[in-house]
Amino acid sequence: MGSPTKLTAWKKLADHQQEINSVDMKSLFETDSKRAEKYTTHAAGWTLDYAKNRANEKTFSLLTDLAKEAGLETAIKGMFTGAHINNTEDRSVLHIALRASQAQESLIVDGINVLDEVRSTLKQMEKFVEQLHSGEWKGYSGKNITDVVSIGIGGSYLGPKVVAEALTPYAQEQVKVHFVANIDGSDITGKLKQMNPETTLFVVASKTFGTLETLSNANAARDWFLANGGSQETVSKHFAAVSSNVKKAVEFGMAEENIFPMWDWVGGRYSLWSAIGLPIAIAVGMDNFYALLDGAHQMDEHFRTAPFEKNLPVIMGTLGVWYINFHNAQTHALIPYDHYLRAMPAHIQQLDMESNGKANLLNGDGVETDTAPIIWGGAGTNGQHAYHQLLHQGTRLVPVDFIAPLASHNPIGDHHAQLFANCLSQSQALMVGKTLEQAQQELRDTGATAEQIDAIAPHKVIKGNRPSNTLLTDKMTPATVGALIALYEHRTFVQGTIWGINSFDQWGVELGKVLGTDIFNRLVSDSDNSGLDASTQALIEAFKKAQS
Ligand code: F6P
Repeated sequence: MGSPTKLTAWKKLADHQQEINSVDMKSLFETDSKRAEKYTTHAAGWTLDYAKNRANEKTFSLLTDLAKEAGLETAIKGMFTGAHINNTEDRSVLHIALRASQAQESLIVDGINVLDEVRSTLKQMEKFVEQLHSGEWKGYSGKNITDVVSIGIGGSYLGPKVVAEALTPYAQEQVKVHFVANIDGSDITGKLKQMNPETTLFVVASKTFGTLETLSNANAARDWFLANGGSQETVSKHFAAVSSNVKKAVEFGMAEENIFPMWDWVGGRYSLWSAIGLPIAIAVGMDNFYALLDGAHQMDEHFRTAPFEKNLPVIMGTLGVWYINFHNAQTHALIPYDHYLRAMPAHIQQLDMESNGKANLLNGDGVETDTAPIIWGGAGTNGQHAYHQLLHQGTRLVPVDFIAPLASHNPIGDHHAQLFANCLSQSQALMVGKTLEQAQQELRDTGATAEQIDAIAPHKVIKGNRPSNTLLTDKMTPATVGALIALYEHRTFVQGTIWGINSFDQWGVELGKVLGTDIFNRLVSDSDNSGLDASTQALIEAFKKAQS
C-alpha cells in the first residue's frame, strides 16, 4: 500500500476536519440525547465510552471508511492466518496464537501447527511453576527457592513486569518475583543485595540471548552466585532461560530442560504471552496465567470478528489517526486510575513507539504523514497534581485514555469512590472547560474587586473541548488485564495498517547499539578518536579522565 493521503476517505476527512473544527463537543451532547449510548461499546470485559471526542456521525463513518480503504480487513485476516505481514523480516506475526491454544486446535503456518508448540511450552511452564511453588525445586544447598529475579530488557522486561505488577492481588506467597533490566550496575547490585544465593533463581529472558544489557546483568548475577557459595555445577539449579538461542543459553550454564523456547513469529514487545511471561506465571500461578491468555484471546476474537463500527481497537485506532493526522496531536496520554496499573504507560510506550515509530511505507517509500505519537502518562490521581495542568490549559492537544476498574481490590473507606470521581471529573473538565464569564463570576463570588477580576479571570479560563476515551471494567483480573493489553496491541496494528507501515520490525534501534559498542571500545582503550565529532571526543575524554 502507498501513502494513505491518496485514499478518498483521507481526503474527505481533511475536508471534514474544517467543518468540525469549530464544533464544541458540548454541543454534540446537547443536540443528541443518545450520544453517550451511541458511542459506548463493549468487549472482553471492557466498556469503551468514546463519546467525549471531536467527532460526529460523519466523522465515525469516514474513519471506518478509511480503515476499510486502507485494507484493514485484509490485514487482520493476514495476521490471524499467519501471513508474513512483517515484510522486512519476512515473518508471520502471531502473538494471537500464543493465546489461542486453549480455544483452538490448530493454526497451520508454513506447514507447522504453531499451536502444538505453544501448548507444549505452556506444559513446560506448568511443570516449572509447579516445581517452584511446591518446593520440589531445590537450590544448591537443598533449600526451597523463595525469590526469582527476571533479567531482561525491552519487551523481555516491560510486559512481564507491568502485568505481574497489575496482578499484585493475585500474587502467590511461595515465591517473590523481581525484575532487573538496566545496564546501570545500580540495578543489579541493588537487587542482589536483597537476595540469598541459596534460595534465588534467575530467569534470563532474551529472545536473541545477544542483548548487551541482559547478558551483562546475567553474567554479574552468575559471578555473584559463584562468589557466594554457588558452583559451576550448580548454576543450572539457579539459572533458567527464555530464548530462541538455545545454544548460547546452554553455553551460559542452563540445563536444556530449563530453556524455554521463543519463536521468530513473536516480536519482543508482543511476547509477554509466551514463555517470556514466565515471571508472571511464577508470580500469580499458572491458572491465572491461563486466564490472562484467555482474556487476551477474547479481545482477539472481538478484533477479528466485530464490525468496525463496534470494534474497540478499530475505534480507538482510527480516533488516534484522526487526532494525530488531522488535529496535529503529537502525543497521546494513558492515565490508569488503578495503582497496580501505574506502569502500564511504559509498556504501551514501547509497544506503540517501537511498532509505529517509522518513516517508511511498506513499499520502502517515505511516509507523507505523521506516524506514532509520543505515548506517555502515569497513574491518576498522582498526575493531576503534576502534568494535568498542561492537559487542561497547555497549548497542545493531548488525547487521553482514562482506564479504571469499577471495584477495587482494596476497598477501604471511600477511597475508591474518590478515585473514580477524580477519573470522571478529569474527562469532564477536559471537555467542558471554563468560560471567561464563569471565571469572572467565580471571582465575583469570592468578593474580588473589578480590577482583580480583570487581572485574574483570563488565567482561569479553560478552553475545554479536549478529547478523551474512558475504558471501564468491573475489576482488574487476569482476564481483564489480558484483554486490555491485547486491545492496545491491536490498536497499534490498526494505526500501522492505516499509515501503511510495518509495525513489527525495529531497525531504528540497531544504529544506537552498533555505535554504543564502538564507543564502549573507545572508553576502555587508547584508541585514536580524532575521526569522531568534537563533541563525542570531548565526552569520551571526560569519562576517561574521571576513571584515571
Ligand atoms: O532493542 C530493542 C529490542 O530488540 C526489543 O525489540 C526487544 O524487546 C529487546 O530489544 C530485547 O531483546 P531480547 O529479548 O532479544 O533480549
